[in-house]
Amino acid sequence: MEQQKMKEAAGKAAVDALVKSGMKLGLGTGSTAIHVIYRVGELLREGKLQNIRAFPTSFQSQIACEKLGIPAFALNAPELGGTLDLCIDGADEIDRENRLIKGGGGALLIEKLAAYNSAAYAIVADETKAVENLGLSFPVPVEVIPEARIPAVLALEKLGALVQLREAVRKAGPVITEHGNLLLDIRFQEPVNPGTLEAELNRIPGVVENGFFTENRPVAYIARGDGTVEVRA
Ligand code: A5P
Repeated sequence: MEQQKMKEAAGKAAVDALVKSGMKLGLGTGSTAIHVIYRVGELLREGKLQNIRAFPTSFQSQIACEKLGIPAFALNAPELGGTLDLCIDGADEIDRENRLIKGGGGALLIEKLAAYNSAAYAIVADETKAVENLGLSFPVPVEVIPEARIPAVLALEKLGALVQLREAVRKAGPVITEHGNLLLDIRFQEPVNPGTLEAELNRIPGVVENGFFTENRPVAYIARGDGTVEVRA
């Protein structure tokens, strides 16, 4: 099965198993999470789901909600009241303990807000995302305010990271996040402790958030090339 089909299979399996009418639902970002949004839109249109209050985690998911007629709200709006029943998102890497790297699409800040304020959390991924150790191949994004660009690089290098400022495509210069910040993509040459690092990275002055997600462990829907979807709690 090709990768696009795997992404679609994972998204559909998670929505069909977990999403119920009346839910406050976090909707993730990326080429896998978009299939979650498509499926929610389809079930609403068919009348099989009702009264969904969605929280989109990026412009991408917000625009998809608008196109599909999925009612979307700010997390602070009275319709959501700052909490979600369920959040479904994609991931860049997932280890055996269901710890994650996220933020390949640059949306980690709001994705973490959704993930950590949701009673239930699910990840949809194809099998290429499953790894033994986080951070050795896919870089961990660290979102920093523009003023912290150089000092944050120095602090990250002191922790043993190789650091690269994320460059934009079809715009000269760096990526500017949806919150006006920069992204420093960091890599490690030895296995690291993602839980410890998640807290440590956020203690660096000027760091807004980082792409280790270790606290609200998700249930993972991992699509395989043979057409099956493994559900890993
Ligand atoms: C967005 O910032 C990311 O966290 C995505 O969820 C992650 O990059 C996975 O994206 P794909 O499903 O497109 O690989």
